[in-house]
Amino acid sequence: MGIVIGVTKETFAGERRVAMVPGALALLRKSGCELLLEAGAGEAAGYPDAEYTAKGGRVAGSRAEIYATAGVILQVRLLGSNPEAGRADLALLHAGQVVIGLADPLAAPESSRELAARGVTSFALELMPRITRAQSMDVLSSMATISGYKAVLLAANTLPRLFPMLMTAAGSITPARALVIGAGVAGLQAIATARRLGAVVSAYDVRPAVKEQVESVGARFVSMELDSSGSEDRGGYAKAMDESFYRRQRELMADVVKRHDVVIATAAVPGKKAPVLITRDMVAGMVPGSVIIDVAAERGGNCELTRPGETVVEGPATILGPLNLPSTVPGHASQMYARNAANFLAHLLRSGRSAIDALDTGDEITRETLVTHGGAVVHPRVRELLGMPAAQPAAAEPAEPAPAMAGTSDHGGARGAA
Ligand code: NAI
Repeated sequence: MGIVIGVTKETFAGERRVAMVPGALALLRKSGCELLLEAGAGEAAGYPDAEYTAKGGRVAGSRAEIYATAGVILQVRLLGSNPEAGRADLALLHAGQVVIGLADPLAAPESSRELAARGVTSFALELMPRITRAQSMDVLSSMATISGYKAVLLAANTLPRLFPMLMTAAGSITPARALVIGAGVAGLQAIATARRLGAVVSAYDVRPAVKEQVESVGARFVSMELDSSGSEDRGGYAKAMDESFYRRQRELMADVVKRHDVVIATAAVPGKKAPVLITRDMVAGMVPGSVIIDVAAERGGNCELTRPGETVVEGPATILGPLNLPSTVPGHASQMYARNAANFLAHLLRSGRSAIDALDTGDEITRETLVTHGGAVVHPRVRELLGMPAAQPAAAEPAEPAPAMAGTSDHGGARGAA
C-alpha cells in the first residue's frame, strides 16, 4: 500500500476546482501514492467519481475518513486561502499529517500559526521558487495562464465593439486596441489571447527584461521614461517601488491608457497590495465603451475604481474586478493544478516514502515551500510576518521528531482525528 493522498471537495465559496484529476493518477502511482477521494470532489470541474475509480482511485465514505487515514491531504485551497470554510478542517487534522495546497502564506500568515499548532507539515505552493527545475510544479504560473486568457474573454464579452479588424460588405471594422499592464505569466497569456482575437496589443511592465517576451507574443512594448532599474528581485518577481515612482508612472500611464479601449491590468508584487496604476482621472479620459479588466482585484486592484468581485460603470468605462478566474475554467485549471501537485509530490518522494518524514530541507524546492513542520512555523518570511524571531537554520529541526505519517502500511493506517 502506498502513501494515501486524500483529496477533498473544495469548500471555499464558488470554488469549482479540484486538486487531483483522473488523468494525473498514473503520475501519483509512479511516486508510490494512491488516491482517496471525497465523493463528488471533482464533479464541479467535470470529473465524476467513476473516472477516478476507473483509474485506480478510491472514493471515501466521508470527509472525516480522509482526514483520519490519509498521510497527505492535497487541496487547492488550504486554510489561508479558505479562511472561513477551511476552519472546519482544522479540527480534523492530526500531528504528522502533511497538507499541500495554496495557502496565501504572505497575505494570511496567521493561518500558518494555526496549522503549526495542529502539528501538521504544510507546504504552500505559492512559495515555489521560480527556477527551471520547479517549473513543472509551479501552480501560480498555471493559474495565471488561465486568468490571463479568461480576462481577455471577459473584455471581449463586455466591449461594445468587436476585437478583430473586419472588412465586410457593411464597411470595415477597426480592431480593438488592448493595453496589458503587467506582462508576467497572466499578462503574456492575455497578450496572446487578445492577439488571437484580432486586437492590436500594447503592453507595459515595470521590469525592462520583459520587453523581448512581450514582443515575442506579438505586442508592442510601451516604454516609459522611468528609472526602473532594480525593479526585479532575484526570483524574477517585481519589487515594490516607492510612492514617487508610482506617481510618476501614473502620470506617464495616463497618456497611454486613453489610447486604448481595452485594458487588462495584472500588475502585482508578491505579498503586497497591488500597485494602483489607473486613477479615476485616467478612466474619465478613456474612450466611451472602454473596458478595464482588473486581474489584480484580489490584491486590491490596479485601478482606483475597482471593486473586487463587482462590475463598476464609471463615466466612459466599465471596470470588472473578477475574483478567482481560474475557477471559472475548472476543467483545465484542475488538470494543470493536479499535474503540478503530482510533480511536487514526486519531488518530495523522490527518495521513497521515508523522504516525507525526513524532509530534505537542503533542497531549495522543499525548503522554500515548507511553511510549518514539527509544531512550528518554519518559513523565514512567514515567521517575519508573524513577528517571530528568525528560526533555527533551515528550520527543519522540530523540537521533537515529527511523528511518523499515518496512512501508510508501515504505520498501521487509520489514526483517529485529533
Ligand atoms: P506577478 O503575478 O507577481 O506580477 C505580474 C506582473 O506585474 C509582473 O511581470 C510584474 O513585473 C508586473 N508589475 C509589478 N509592478 C508593476 C508596475 N508598477 N507596473 C507594471 N507592471 C508591474 O508575476 P508572475 O506573472 O507570477 O511572474 C513574474 C516573472 O517570474 C515572469 O515574468 C517570469 O520572468 C518569472 N517566472 C519564472 C518562472 C520559472 O523560471 N520557473 C515561472 C514563472 C514565472
